[in-house]
Amino acid sequence: ITVRADRPGPRISPTFYGLMTEEINHSYDGGLYGELLQNRAFRDDSRAPRHWSLISDGGGAGKISLEPGLDPSLRVDIERVDKGQRVGVANGGYWGVPVKPNTTYHVSFIAKVSPGMRAVEVGIEPTKGGADQASRQIAVSGADWRRYETDLRVGRAPASLDNRFFITAANPGTIWLRNVSLFPPTYKNHRNGNRIDLMDKLSAMRPTFLRFPGGNYLEGNTIAERFDWKATLGDPAMRRGHQGPWGYRSSDGLGLLEFLQWAEDLHSQPVLAVFAGYALEGQHIDPGPKLAPFVQDALDEIEYVTGDVHTKWGARRAQDGHPKPFPLKYVEIGNEDGFDRSGSYDGRFAQFYDAIKAKYPRLQLIATAAVRSRKMDLLDDHYYRSAVEMARDSGHYDGYDRKGPKIFVGEWATVMGRPTPTFEAALGDAAWLTGLERNSDLVVMECYAPLLVNVNPGGAQWPTNLIGYDALTSYGSPAYYVQTMFGQNTGDVVLPAEIALASKAATSTPAPHGAIGVGTYRTQSEYKDVEVTHDGTTLYQKDFSQGMDGWGTRGGRWSVVDGALRQTSNAPDVQAYAGDKNWTDYTIHVKARKLGGA
Ligand code: AHR
Repeated sequence: ITVRADRPGPRISPTFYGLMTEEINHSYDGGLYGELLQNRAFRDDSRAPRHWSLISDGGGAGKISLEPGLDPSLRVDIERVDKGQRVGVANGGYWGVPVKPNTTYHVSFIAKVSPGMRAVEVGIEPTKGGADQASRQIAVSGADWRRYETDLRVGRAPASLDNRFFITAANPGTIWLRNVSLFPPTYKNHRNGNRIDLMDKLSAMRPTFLRFPGGNYLEGNTIAERFDWKATLGDPAMRRGHQGPWGYRSSDGLGLLEFLQWAEDLHSQPVLAVFAGYALEGQHIDPGPKLAPFVQDALDEIEYVTGDVHTKWGARRAQDGHPKPFPLKYVEIGNEDGFDRSGSYDGRFAQFYDAIKAKYPRLQLIATAAVRSRKMDLLDDHYYRSAVEMARDSGHYDGYDRKGPKIFVGEWATVMGRPTPTFEAALGDAAWLTGLERNSDLVVMECYAPLLVNVNPGGAQWPTNLIGYDALTSYGSPAYYVQTMFGQNTGDVVLPAEIALASKAATSTPAPHGAIGVGTYRTQSEYKDVEVTHDGTTLYQKDFSQGMDGWGTRGGRWSVVDGALRQTSNAPDVQAYAGDKNWTDYTIHVKARKLGGA
């Protein structure tokens, strides 16, 4: 390999490598966000207190029920308790409550009790029985809601996951509970903060930006279920949470300020995506007066992030605990708006663009689908593909128009391996990344997606994700180490490289453009889901909009073998993301032919 240090190419953007995040795969609740109890606010189900169960030791008796409403609570009726025994409730956390030696856990809850109820015991105990990991008596009283807090200190016990949290009493009566919370130590000791092992892993990647809050999580299935940032501020116990698009409810414990704090802790800048009037099920707001409140909401949000304490929303941020404004250079308008079949994005983008540029002319605005009405500063491209496709298409941007918008590859991954990528996937990623970096004059930022996955059955909604964990431990996938290697070794400029193969010399600039198996995933409004091209000629196209619920294809393995196009893998060739939000494998048998040919 000959590297031409005497012929420096384009500068590599100092914010090239970053992170993309949203609430998917229990990324926050049951993941990065420190809370250890599932359904702490009793809002996950309006009919029953999911994840909570009755404890009645010995001959004790009692019952638990949900008292629904705007501020739901768990009612614990303790009917009979034998001497020396207890009755109460338990929560098994997110597939276990983790315990580590010599560690302090913080308990808080809001409660009211019936007359005569004077004390409860809170603690963590092994699910299969045995001595408490830690426990404590708390004096309680009164028919009015009061907040209680205490610490639980675990001693020299070995690290374990098979535990549950409990609140019990030793005498009959009734306890009502709201917002029962158990927190481990957090990264930088932030109250309401993040899990340390996961933050350490993210920090090792040296990300320069954090794209949030989505992804689909920004949009919501309906407009009412969008990421409504104002509802995510203030006392976490007062946040109502909302239904996310990935099949479970979000507590909103990790809200806008926590996203910003997270970026700051990683020495990263936020890439803030603002809701742009389109939700996943197709609801949209046409440009014009009805969109104006959403545009104002985005302006308020930018002010919350960047305004000084004399501005309305800057003052609110200071009141929330962070007087210092956050840096902000990039704002993304929506997410994957190419899916909006109404064609309203051009107009919606223009309305947001004009209002934001008028007030914040220095902000760089990212479009999520090509628009004609305004000059896009950046365009966000997404790719989910197989390793072969990634490697073969690593020259993707070599021939791109340099006069158009800059490119932000805001979501991409080699989708092979569940719940985290295989080694082959990591190789596909690395090949793709070299192509992005080589095109640094055009591609200015990239981030892999999804970032996080709780590996428990029920934890993951997406097949291939960068970092896996349960409640106790975490690991980086092979692809994580690819990202880390690139992030830790960022260059200043691109240097052309020549590779000598046997007697033949090949140059890597531009890379060979073997355009085989190009999945035109989510780039075309009419959902031509698979398009296979060779030397610029379309060999095969298939419209899956009926058979696959209109969702895009993910991957597909194709090769030219002996001059003919073939499937080259026994593995399912195309994965479709069906409307029910579960991944389904489809095997597609294809005869290669030129369109219109025999
Ligand atoms: O990364 C998972 C999902 O893929 C994102 O939420 C969405 O933007 C894309 O379709």
